[in-house]
Parts: sequence; structure tokens; C-alpha cells
Amino acid sequence: MDLKSLLEQMTLEEKAALCTGLTPWDTVPVERLGVPPIIMSDGPHGVRRVPGGFGGETIPATCFPTASALASTWDVDLVRELGEALADECLSIGVDIVLGPGTNMKRTPLCGRNFEYFSEDPHLAGRMAASLINGVQSKGVGTSLKHFAANNQEEQRFTIDAQIDERTLHELYLAAFEYAVKNAKPWTVMCAYNRLNGTYASQHHYLLTDVLKDRWGFEGVVVSDWGAVHDRVEALDAGLDLEMPGPQPHRTRAVVEAVRSGKLDEAALDKAVMRLLSIIDKAQQTPKGGTPIDIDAHHALARRIAADAMVLLKNEGGLLPLHDVSRIAVIGVAAKEPYFQGGGSSHINPTRVDNPFDELQKLAGDAALAYAPGYTMDDASDPALIEEAVALARDAEIALLYVALPPLKESEGYDRPDIDLMDHQVALIQAVAAVQPKTVVILNNGSAVAMKDWIDGPAAVLEAWMMGQAGGGAIADVLFGKVNPSGHLAETFPIKLSDTPAYINYPGELGKARYGEGVFIGYRYYDTTQTPVQFPFGYGLSYTTFEYSNLRVSAEAFKDVDGLTVSVDVTNSGPVAGKAVVQLYVHDHEASVARPEKELRAFGKVALEPGETKTVSFDLDARAFAFYHAGHHDFVAESGAFDILIGASSADIRQSATVTLDATLTPPTPITRDTLFRDWRHDPRAFAAIEPILQKIVDAVSQIDPNWTMENIGWADELLLENVFGFWGAQVLDDTPEQTVKDVLATLYSEE
Ligand code: BGC
Repeated sequence: MDLKSLLEQMTLEEKAALCTGLTPWDTVPVERLGVPPIIMSDGPHGVRRVPGGFGGETIPATCFPTASALASTWDVDLVRELGEALADECLSIGVDIVLGPGTNMKRTPLCGRNFEYFSEDPHLAGRMAASLINGVQSKGVGTSLKHFAANNQEEQRFTIDAQIDERTLHELYLAAFEYAVKNAKPWTVMCAYNRLNGTYASQHHYLLTDVLKDRWGFEGVVVSDWGAVHDRVEALDAGLDLEMPGPQPHRTRAVVEAVRSGKLDEAALDKAVMRLLSIIDKAQQTPKGGTPIDIDAHHALARRIAADAMVLLKNEGGLLPLHDVSRIAVIGVAAKEPYFQGGGSSHINPTRVDNPFDELQKLAGDAALAYAPGYTMDDASDPALIEEAVALARDAEIALLYVALPPLKESEGYDRPDIDLMDHQVALIQAVAAVQPKTVVILNNGSAVAMKDWIDGPAAVLEAWMMGQAGGGAIADVLFGKVNPSGHLAETFPIKLSDTPAYINYPGELGKARYGEGVFIGYRYYDTTQTPVQFPFGYGLSYTTFEYSNLRVSAEAFKDVDGLTVSVDVTNSGPVAGKAVVQLYVHDHEASVARPEKELRAFGKVALEPGETKTVSFDLDARAFAFYHAGHHDFVAESGAFDILIGASSADIRQSATVTLDATLTPPTPITRDTLFRDWRHDPRAFAAIEPILQKIVDAVSQIDPNWTMENIGWADELLLENVFGFWGAQVLDDTPEQTVKDVLATLYSEE
């Protein structure tokens, strides 16, 4: 298609109509000009095609594990594979764009939708999102990176005003989006429902245009979350290209009228239309429909991902993997009615569902399995169920307890009331573990749960997440050691809710949620404040052990422009093959702002046979050492010493080295009338500008007070320059202190 000429041929009404949907999922075609609609479908961990609009049956599709699970694999290649499979499913049923992935930060474990998000860490979340997008888009299907931005709670999600300072916004809440936009170029980005610093995300010019389009170079379409637009004209002006869902003829009329009345520049509308035409064109290049998917292969992939995502949290005495057991008590409704996905727009109609009990039996050989439900999925406790389960556990050699967090505790659309399991589930775990020392708890949930009341009881705990339709088989694979667990937590498991960083600022007051904890969320907070946690970020056990050795850095002192290469050897020192997740954190010794104790800057997953060693290398650029500087409105890396920390989790650092960075890219701190004397002194350029005047003052004052020298003038650091001039400069200044400062500033900036 010649897009420019198409645009020229379109009437104002056609252009306006293209910018709001035709149906809940499709855009408006311009039949006269041969412009077809774009067909969108929800994701992100499966294709949720609802042919009948909002209601009705969705077309069966593979339900893959949700994002919390995906991130726990720490495996970008596997997530890319998932993306390719999603694309195949889209292609087979004629979907042009799948609405995902979601890469919002897990600011609080209370967010009901955390199961659809990757991590509390933007580095990990950004890599996961980019891989998924690259996988999908490699096959000619588009994605929608969502929800841009700061949609970190479901409570009041349509209106809440996230109040976030500039540094925190860029360093945490935008960083994963930034990485994915720059490295995977999603066809669309979906704006969030909420407000950011007073303005709805759908109408936020800074967010949608200044940052996303201009600074990051996003060339795709900004689509609204469904129903997120309040003022269509303002949204268009701010950079929101496509409003969904449709039809909403009054929106089209509003845009037409705004152009006619001169309220909206037609050029703004044309820009949105060009972006839309360009993705319609892209979508046209890949024919869709007709090719059936390989359901079995996708189910097998879902099983492989689920198994690699499971995190072995506890395994006392090497209870797992199971061996030589003949009588197994299988307890918990989730063993027969698997809980494998969350509620809301991502809910998939699965092609099939593995029954965990049956899958266990398949691998258990001759072992006898006995079942008791143990609990109900509502909050009604039934002591008889616990008694029955206890009796079963007592008679068996081992008890496997399948515990799923019910939908009433976790879903899109509302937040979690707490981070606990249900009381009767806790009572069940305690009672079973009291009679059966060989108890394994298998958890299904989408985000961190508190464990302090029961974690000491069972010998082993496996976090299986919302594991997708094949999760039942994947659990059996891990329990019997067909798969060696290699998942690591992508979010911290706190001991209790009141330990969590956003606790006192959640859910906000009078419609505003103040992100008072700043950049300190997740492990950034727990590490820095030395708050004990149940399981740290990055944690996960294996059936084997790994040793880390021989950390090398390409240079002990390096320039930001050159970056740094870090290598480390990892050895499988245990008895079975396994996969290690190698994590690289950076610790800044000293900075001009408060920085977290350490930050994840690289990671890799490596498969090792017993006794095998592999070298893992990471290239770090200046950004790996940087923070967002609100004065420069950009990321800056400051000169100085940094520790490179290689760990098996954020709390298990195995190797470290100290390097020194020479910052050549960092622009000088802006000097203004409000700059403190300290910063005048420490900036060589600024100091040179004031030095002659300062020398005169020191010469004069030192005649009365001999302690006054240029060397020990640091005690005045907290003053403004005009205070220093005002207090001690009367005899030597030719002008008022204020005017002298202005003159110095004028000289300083005229030289640039
Ligand atoms: C959700 C989006 C979803 C959209 C369409 C919204 O309520 O927030 O994630 O893609 O609905 O179903």
C-alpha cells in the first residue's frame, strides 16, 4: 500500500473513524480504499478470541503459564519460543494482534493482576517482554505492550492517580517498557486506565508522545486500554492513536468537529492515521486463517515452560525428587481440579487440561495414590476435610499437598485482601505436616504468598504458579525428577504484608496513590533496609549444586563509553544435569542520590551436565551503572567504584569484583542560583568561575580569622553562593551578592 496516497484520499470522517474501533476487537475498515480491519485478541499467555464481541464462548487455545511463571524461568529463549507458538495460534484463527505482554512492575504483592506481570525488577521484566514480543512478531503477528504506565494496582484502576517522581518513573516504572520498545518494537503499546501525576495515561502527552514516541522512537500505534479514554480529542492530541473498544460514533464526531473548529490540528489526526495504516499494512503482509495449530506440540511446550518455571523453595533432606515410594497421599482439590490461570481478560478456554493427579499416577509406576480434597475453594472451613486428609497422610509414606489460592483472593479487576493462603488451607498444611514429616506443599498462585505460619512444617515446598493447562504434568515431572527444577523467583516473597515497601502508601488516599517508597521496591527495598524476607528475589533450589568461580572483568578501570565485559565459570558440582540461573548485580559505592544496595543488570541461564563447567559472559554498558537523574532528565553514570556481584539469588552472592568507572558521558550538573556552595566547589568549571571572588573574600576575612583558607572553606557547603557572598563579601564585592551570582552564572553559560 502507498500509505501517503491512501491518507490523501481519505476523507476527514474516514480518518476520524479509523481512530476508534468498529467492534470490541476490530478496527474500522475503509472498504472504498481497500483498507481492511485489524483484528485484536486478548493475551498475554494464550489467544483469547471472542468471536461474539464481549460475551460468549472464546475459541479454544493453548493456555500457557502466566507471566509470573514465565519470568521465573529466567529463560529468554524459552519465552521467545512461547511467543512464536502464540503467533501460530493467532495465524490459525485470523488474529492480527495479540494484546500482551503486560510488563508493569510488581510494586506491591497485593496487586490482583500480578499474575499477568513479570517481575518487581525492570531489567528482568524488560527482557521477558522483549523476548515474547520478538517471538510473536517474528511470524508477522503484532503485540500490544501494556499497560503504559504505572498500572500497579487493580483497586480503583480506572481512576487512581499514581503520584510518581520523575526518577522513580523512569528508573522503575518505565524502564521495562523502554527496553522492550527499543529492542522489540511492538506494533502497539496499550495505555493504562489510571492517571499519572494528575493526568489520565490515555491523555498524557509526556508519556505517549514526549517519552514513548519522541525519546524512545516508538513508531507503532498507541491503543487505549478498553474504555480508558475520557476525552477523545485531548487523547489524540496527546498521542493516543486508536481508541478501543468500538463502536463509538460520538467519538468520531467529536474528532471531526474538533478539526473543523480548529481545536485539533488535522496534522495530529493524520499522524495517528499514518501509524494505523502502517500496522494495517504490516498485518496484511502475513496471510492468516486456515492453518491448524499443532495442539499436541503446544501442549508439550506449555508443559516444558511450566516445569522450567517452577521454583523449588524448600527441600529438606533431599526429599525431592521422589524415589522408592509405594504409598502416596495426594491431598488438595487442586490435585484434581487444577488451578492454572487467573480471572479477567486473559482467561483462556484451554484446548485441554492436565489433571495433576492423573499425571502423577502416570509417573508413579506401581505406587498407590490415595486422594482427599482437604479444603474447598471458598472460605468456608470444614474440619472434617482436614481430619480425612490427616488420616490419609498418616497412613502414607509421603503426602503431596496441592494448595491453590482461590480466585476470591486474586484476579484482574480487584486487589488481594492480604497475601495469605486461606485460614483452612494453613490449618490443613499444619495438621498434615504434624503427622507426616515427608510432606510436600505444591502451590498454585500468581504472586507472592506469606508462609510464616506454616513454612516450618512441610519438608519441601514447590511454587508452581498459575502454571497453564499442562501444569499438572509439569508438577509430576518436577516431583519425580524428570525435570530438575530451575525456576528462580522473579519477585521477593516477604515474611508479612507489613514488611512490603508500598505498605503505608497503598492503596492511596482520596484517589491518589503516592509512590513514597520511590525506587525502593522489591529487593531494592529489602536489601537496602536489611528487612528479612521469606525467600529473596532470584532464589530457587535445584536437585544439583552449582559452583561459581574465576570471575573476570575486562578492565578494573574503564570508561563508560567502552563498557565492561564480565565472565564467570559455573560448574555443576552435583549428581544430576541441571540449569543454573546466573545473576549479575551492580552495587554503587557512592552516588549523588540514594541508590538501592544492588540492582540486577544481567542474567543468563545455562544447562550443565554433572561435572561440566561453562563460562558465562555479560557485556555491561554505561546504563548498567546509571541511575535516572531528574536534573538532567536522563540516565547518568557517575564516576567511581562499583562492585560487580555474581549470585545464585539477590541474597546469595558467590563472586565479586570491584571496578572503577570513568564517566565521560555524564553532563555536568546544571549550576543555577539555587545550587549549593558545595556543588559550586565540586564542579571544576563552576569553581573556576567563582575562584577569583572567593580568593578575595578569603584574603579579607582571614585577616580577622586565620582559620579562613581556600582549603577549609567546606564548612560553608550547605549555604547558597549568594549567602557566602552576602555574609562575608561586603568589602570585596562590586555589586550586591545576588547580582554577583547572576554575573558569574552569565559568564559560566556564555562560555559553553
Ligand atoms: C484489560 C486489558 C485487556 C483489555 C481487553 C482491559 O480491561 O486491562 O489488559 O487487554 O481489557 O480485554
